[in-house]
Amino acid sequence: MLEIRNLHKNFGPLVAVDDVSFTVARGEVLGFLGPNGAGKSTTMKMATGFLAPDRGTAVICGHDIADAPLAAKRSFGYLPEGAPAYPDMTVADFLRFVAHIRGFRGEEATARINHIVELVHLNEVYEQRIETLSKGFRRRVGVAQALIHDPPVVILDEPTDGLDPNQKYEMRGILAAMRSEKAIIISTHLLEEVEAVCSRAIIIARGRILADGTPGELAARSRYHNAVRLEIEPANEPRIRADLAALADIAAIETADDGRALIVLPREHASIAADIAELAEGRDWRIGGFSVERGRLDEVFRAITAPGSDIAAS
Ligand SMILES: Nc1ncnc2c1ncn2[C@@H]1O[C@H](COP(=O)(O)OP(=O)(O)OP(=O)(O)O)[C@@H](O)[C@H]1O
Ligand SMILES: [Mg+2]
Repeated sequence: MLEIRNLHKNFGPLVAVDDVSFTVARGEVLGFLGPNGAGKSTTMKMATGFLAPDRGTAVICGHDIADAPLAAKRSFGYLPEGAPAYPDMTVADFLRFVAHIRGFRGEEATARINHIVELVHLNEVYEQRIETLSKGFRRRVGVAQALIHDPPVVILDEPTDGLDPNQKYEMRGILAAMRSEKAIIISTHLLEEVEAVCSRAIIIARGRILADGTPGELAARSRYHNAVRLEIEPANEPRIRADLAALADIAAIETADDGRALIVLPREHASIAADIAELAEGRDWRIGGFSVERGRLDEVFRAITAPGSDIAAS
């Protein structure tokens, strides 16, 4: 439903977006991840016709954003970076204005506004001027204007930035509820959000796509993939470490950040859980907990995006 084709943008000597291509299908929620300045917002601006690319284009529901901008723009809703809106309008006026330019009149406009106000919880600020809203409410107004025409493609630049934990949770629920009939892209800095709502993630840095996969696939690249966490009594640590040293596929043993457990890292993602469980039973380790990690997205993100990182694109 959304196809990004070889987008490229320079700002003077800076290459902000460097030959970025990907597609998003119905039912997908794509998480767009990357450090500050990676080129996420610039890619979204070009995909939505907000900024002209130097090369490449975007095709939305079959409409090329350069050749058929109106048809393309009818097919998506966009929350731009920073959730811009007219500050001296009230929420009510702004949503009516947006409904109007989206082509809705009379009862249909009212019904759509009522529905969206309910959906993103704007009732309590409905008659308030946008410039007087808190950051989270302003962001919700931005999401409301993006969704008012129920578009098949939804492009949201940091939709949960500034929202409190309850609102973040609700926004994720809204995205999950829309997901089956739409193609959705969100940019975010919250890796737990990617695990919670995204079916796929693209990691971008310095304008280039460096990784593309499901959150599980990306997490599986972590050195913590298949690592075993053992809750132990501190007094037992030396003998447990000694017992573990006999196992072949162990790369390292770390103390967990909370200090209450050992993290046993496998060599090359090997499955070590069964061997460790057997050892624990045979040697009577008296462990209080045993779990296997699927991998840590934050560590993968750092490894891929750190300056000088040479992990190749996949
Ligand atoms: N209009 C512009 N003129 C000059 N440079 C720009 C312009 N817009 C963006 N840039 C630069 O392009 C690069 C990519 O910026 P972009 O806003 O796309 O990053 P981002 O991935 O969205 O970052 P963030 O996570 O901070 O939102 C940055 O170095 C930015 O300073
Ligand atoms: Mg941005």
